[in-house]
Amino acid sequence: MLLRKATMRDIPEVLALINTYASNGIMLPRTDFEVAEEIRDFVVAVSEDGAVAGVGALHIDTPTAAEVRSLAVDPNQKTRGIGRQVVEELELEAARYGLTSLFAFTYVPGFFAKLGYSQVDRGLLPQKAWKDCLRCPKFQACDEIAVHKPMPATAATWTPSPRLLQVLPSASASTPRI
Ligand SMILES: CC(C)(COP(=O)(O)OP(=O)(O)OC[C@H]1O[C@@H](n2cnc3c(N)ncnc32)[C@H](O)[C@@H]1OP(=O)(O)O)[C@@H](O)C(=O)NCCC(=O)NCCS
Repeated sequence: MLLRKATMRDIPEVLALINTYASNGIMLPRTDFEVAEEIRDFVVAVSEDGAVAGVGALHIDTPTAAEVRSLAVDPNQKTRGIGRQVVEELELEAARYGLTSLFAFTYVPGFFAKLGYSQVDRGLLPQKAWKDCLRCPKFQACDEIAVHKPMPATAATWTPSPRLLQVLPSASASTPRI
């Protein structure tokens, strides 16, 4: 299974996965415009035949916290570790950004518990996380469970690319920066 950032070409398969579950009320539906706008949030798991077998997104809400969302695995490929790999890839990305807190709204707290997330009072989550709830059909009677995982605070480092070094001659590729 290859884990990589999504591209615009993945959008039809990403939507097929998410909206299959959304039609059963398990996830929020997404449109091609929404996914395109947030394409940098998305990671896909691609099987050997090139098909998208899993998807997930890391949506940053505050300087410290991000939501793991739009997480979906091909119904025919569940419980093979794909969901875990997608979330772990999103966690690596969160660490690279220096985020210290991840959360999700979910009907599968048992899955997130396996990955180190604990149930949390949703009132403790950033208010920005609620903006998507406004368009949710279950807004008045939400039964999703909020889960949270603190991330180890690691110093975010940035190394200039060789291309950038051409315009920043004083920068050194071997010198990590904050
Ligand atoms: C939830 C979902 C992403 C899990 O993906 P998956 O690839 O089947 O999960 P994995 O195989 O990586 O499972 C990782 C661990 O979680 C456990 N697990 C998986 N689904 C679980 C569930 N529904 N309840 C409890 N534990 C679960 C697995 O047994 C495994 O445990 P192990 O490490 O002890 O073997 C997938 O079932 C899915 O797409 N569900 C529908 C959409 C959805 O609910 N998305 C979440 C929105 S927040």
